Amino acid sequence: MSQYLSENITKITTNTLQRMRNEGERIAMLTAYDYSIATLLDMAKIDVILVGDSAANVMAGYKTTLPITLDEMIYHASSGVRAVKRAWVVVDMPFGTYQGNSKMALNSAIRIMKESGADAIKLEGGEEVVESIDRILSAGIPVMGHLGLTPQSINKFGTYAVRATSEEEAAKLLENAKLLEEHGCFSLVLEKIPATLAKKVTESIHIPTIGIGAGGATSGQVLVFHDMMGITQQFSPRFLRRYLNLSEEIVGAIEHYIEDVKSCEFPNESEQY
Ligand code: KIV
Repeated sequence: MSQYLSENITKITTNTLQRMRNEGERIAMLTAYDYSIATLLDMAKIDVILVGDSAANVMAGYKTTLPITLDEMIYHASSGVRAVKRAWVVVDMPFGTYQGNSKMALNSAIRIMKESGADAIKLEGGEEVVESIDRILSAGIPVMGHLGLTPQSINKFGTYAVRATSEEEAAKLLENAKLLEEHGCFSLVLEKIPATLAKKVTESIHIPTIGIGAGGATSGQVLVFHDMMGITQQFSPRFLRRYLNLSEEIVGAIEHYIEDVKSCEFPNESEQY
């Protein structure tokens, strides 16, 4: 910790991420929606912090990512950004702030950048959002794409099952990946698609791909922090590796605290004035 505080820290940029991809060094990305968790991620030297709209599920308890607002995303993003010295911080544009209206998309992206201090934005979709991407990029805002399972379209898909398993959908996804690269996205999230397709996409474009449920051949990986730490419990897809079972530990600690309060064990003499 003290080493982190005194270290001369070099900030990650899109150039760093591109170099890592070119040299075959995998990129590690995790979500954070607040100052405390972003501090821990940055101390551990995570490469990219995603202020994901999964905050709608994890922080607010909504069933989908659709309800979260631009103001709420800016609140989460600015809380995370205040913690970060090293990581590249990407913020999800929430549902309804960029689709079908590139002028609104630019205004939403500018608000995120200005009010949160983030480094880049992420948005979901392929050819249907390239006009928005062009306009956002024209303001000098780096854009990360997101293909495959795009949770903001859950009502169209009807299911969170693996995407692009048919030849037709796989070909469309590859075409969209090339299009997003052509239009200037600096990176691309590939969510819940067959590993062979993710490999093909990664080998067909020159920008870093970041996979979630997309196998091991992508340029990097992303997980939702609360899922990989075992804070959330119901969500258990095959691709999720849990590194801790924090929900059990936290509930145990809370039960211990309640016991100590009830038995007048807390506070003791050294814990009072
Ligand atoms: O919102 C999010 O957390 C995401 C990741 C799952 C990629 O978009």
